[in-house]
Amino acid sequence: MNSQPQARVEQVRVLSEDELDEICVAAEQAILDGSGFGWLVPPSRMVLEKYWRGVLMMPQRDLFVARLDGAIVGSTQMLRPPSNNEAQAHAAHLTTFFIAPWARGHGLARGLLAAVEDVARKQGYRQVELDMRATQTAAMQLAEACGFQRWGTNPRYAYVNGRYVPGYFYSKPLLADDDAQEGAPA
Ligand SMILES: CC(C)(COP(=O)(O)OP(=O)(O)OC[C@H]1O[C@@H](n2cnc3c(N)ncnc32)[C@H](O)[C@@H]1OP(=O)(O)O)[C@@H](O)C(=O)NCCC(=O)NCCS
Repeated sequence: MNSQPQARVEQVRVLSEDELDEICVAAEQAILDGSGFGWLVPPSRMVLEKYWRGVLMMPQRDLFVARLDGAIVGSTQMLRPPSNNEAQAHAAHLTTFFIAPWARGHGLARGLLAAVEDVARKQGYRQVELDMRATQTAAMQLAEACGFQRWGTNPRYAYVNGRYVPGYFYSKPLLADDDAQEGAPA
């Protein structure tokens, strides 16, 4: 008998009521763990449900979920630039990236990153960007292990419990030819 939980990731366009509950629980646990994609304390369940329903309705966002034995335990989103931003239409942003603490270490985050890269490439993006607090060591290791390059630091990226927390900015070119290409003023 195989006792390993089954881990998989996928893009979703709808969430059933059960799945909405699962993603809310996972998000609440991630927020309590100190990594709440902006939230420092879990909002009410009503606010969280509205948040996820809103994500599904927003055309510029693609939602990806991570599942363990079928249940949602984490998530990320691919955010497309707004249509007026033609100069940055080449770059998709990976945001709202978390795995519930109890579901970590199964390769789900690595899978989510790969799924976003795959969809971004298919949609014609040349680059994926992400950013994180400097305290998010696991995310940093993951991004660097997956080929993201750190290009900047904001010393006042976040303000948590009365203190500034620096943040790191990463990007990854999706086309081999772009890897060595540096931008010039235009
Ligand atoms: C970062 C996070 C998403 C990783 O989730 P996960 O499912 O445990 O990650 P995976 O199992 O896919 O691990 C993939 C890689 O991440 C890195 N990693 C994961 N956990 C790590 C840890 N505790 N310390 C150092 N590196 C770690 C490793 O490079 C690992 O590769 P390996 O297994 O070959 O060593 C999870 O720790 C998390 O939700 N953290 C809080 C939220 C956060 O930081 N979000 C990112 C904001 S951009």
